Amino acid sequence: MCGIVGYVGHQNAETILLDSLRRLEYRGYDSAGIATLFLANTSCQTAIRRAAGKLENLREFVKQNPCQGTIGIGHTRWATHGKPTEKNAHPHQSDPITLVHNGIIENHLQLREQLLSAGHQLKSDTDTEIVAHLIAAEKKNNQVNFITATRAAVQQIRGAFALAILDENEQDTIVCIKQACPLIIGIGQHENFIASDFTAILPYTNQFIILEEGDMAVVKKDTIHITNFDGVEQNRPIKILDWSPSVAEKNGFSHFMLKEIFEQPLAITDTLRERLSFIENKVVLDGVHLDKLKHINRICIVACGSSFHAGMIAKYQMEDLVKLPVELDLASEFRYRPVLVDAHTLVIGISQSGETADTLAALRHAQNKGALLLSICNTLESSIPRLCHHSAGTLYTRAGPEISVASTKAFITQIVALHLLGLGLAQQRDQITKNDIIEHMNALLQLPTAIETVLQEDSLIQKIAQHFVSSTDMLFLGRGALYPIALEGALKMKELSYVHAEGYAAGEMKHGAIALIDEKMPVIVLAAQSHVYEKVVSNLEEVKTRGGCIVGILDENDDALKSRCEFSIHIPVVPKSILAPVATVPLQLFAYHLANAKGLDVDQPRNLAKSVTVE
Ligand code: F6R
Repeated sequence: MCGIVGYVGHQNAETILLDSLRRLEYRGYDSAGIATLFLANTSCQTAIRRAAGKLENLREFVKQNPCQGTIGIGHTRWATHGKPTEKNAHPHQSDPITLVHNGIIENHLQLREQLLSAGHQLKSDTDTEIVAHLIAAEKKNNQVNFITATRAAVQQIRGAFALAILDENEQDTIVCIKQACPLIIGIGQHENFIASDFTAILPYTNQFIILEEGDMAVVKKDTIHITNFDGVEQNRPIKILDWSPSVAEKNGFSHFMLKEIFEQPLAITDTLRERLSFIENKVVLDGVHLDKLKHINRICIVACGSSFHAGMIAKYQMEDLVKLPVELDLASEFRYRPVLVDAHTLVIGISQSGETADTLAALRHAQNKGALLLSICNTLESSIPRLCHHSAGTLYTRAGPEISVASTKAFITQIVALHLLGLGLAQQRDQITKNDIIEHMNALLQLPTAIETVLQEDSLIQKIAQHFVSSTDMLFLGRGALYPIALEGALKMKELSYVHAEGYAAGEMKHGAIALIDEKMPVIVLAAQSHVYEKVVSNLEEVKTRGGCIVGILDENDDALKSRCEFSIHIPVVPKSILAPVATVPLQLFAYHLANAKGLDVDQPRNLAKSVTVE
């Protein structure tokens, strides 16, 4: 939530900041702004440009009012404190300090009072502005330099904060602070970059330093000096990332979401790469410390949103494979419960971003109780994998950067990674035969092709979606492993199309939701072959009897059921163990095309942000 960038070097900072912010806009898009330092005659000055709304508004404003300078900072906002207006957009300033911030300053009310009584004039409603005032006050009152003043100010604030800070009197320096929000430094030739994540600055460099909790970095064009908040030197390694810059571009697709849906076969292939050994007939879980998991007697899964739905599928599958009780919790609930976990419990956190505040806090909560931690994550070196590093480790999904706010390829690869993990734990505990392992591995290998087949239904799904542009409500029904997919289909529909949609376990419908059904209610029924196929067919008939308009997600040769549905989308017949991811794809496309037909902003739905770093 909120993206920050910075640049110091020899190029025009404005161009680089706006370009980097474009790739970071998925983190928030309520308002945006940049600030640069430049020389006017002999004195250094600060140029600030801000605009409410999407980055495009800022871009237009900057075109009319360009900024000079080869050093600057930028921000794209997801509002927490203060409405998304120009006044509350970052950067915020208290002469000579200008800064941008991602996170929340928790003690801002108390600090605001202190500053107001000391005569400071605050111009915005944000928690951020007070930090600029604190640093400026330290400089003025104690006659200290920029770095000492920043260090003193940071000791006064509490909460989560990644900050990039300029001082008009130090025209070659950006000071960065990292506490519980991601911040990286990109290393160039006589230039350095700052960003909330890699994708923002991939076209400029593939060498990065990942700042750690409590780091303060003084970044100039030829040097980077990192200390902790007390000034003690910190050594951070340089990492090389081999992603191509094109992963953060649309490459001819109308939206990132569509591109990412179509990238799913590749993302799955990458996630499986070198993890299926047909020589030893086993799965290989790189990054997972299996030896630490020999004595677990229980598994808990914590996650949010789509990642939670992936966890739900895993619960069903893992209990079956590993023969251990698997519990599932929303991270936001788990973190505040006196949960019964101990050194024999494996707690698995699932997160695309690796920064979701609730999931991170849930894992910390479990860690404090002595549990073993493992993560399924898509973002290298993000906070969640780093937390799990000294425990049971991380199994990375290899979906590549997911830019669209709605999760698609990350979700599918989470299901795959959890499937691999279940197999790995089952083989470690001798709960699975060689033949069964081989059967599962072969099923996983079929998944990319099965999804390619579903993607060929894209134009049909687009046509079906157009019939529902005026629908205000929808029901999604599924049983077994397709129940979480019904929830996921409903979530995609809600977040993209602003249609009220509910996912239901088909068998539960008769206990209440059936009252909603009339001829105006589209009901999407996941009725592909499974061990509960006949039960789902009965549920479909119950809907039909009450006049509901049915869109069936059916097996490719299920003509009998097709005749009972108003619309039908066929998926290939696949092994039961990979049915859930295959059945997800038509629902992703359905939600995408419906939102698009309604003229909505598919990649950046209202009120949302990709990386939810606040509670
Ligand atoms: C829905 C979606 C969200 C995320 C949730 C968790 O399309 O993207 O529900 O799944 O915010 O995010 P991560 O996986 O980054 O922890």
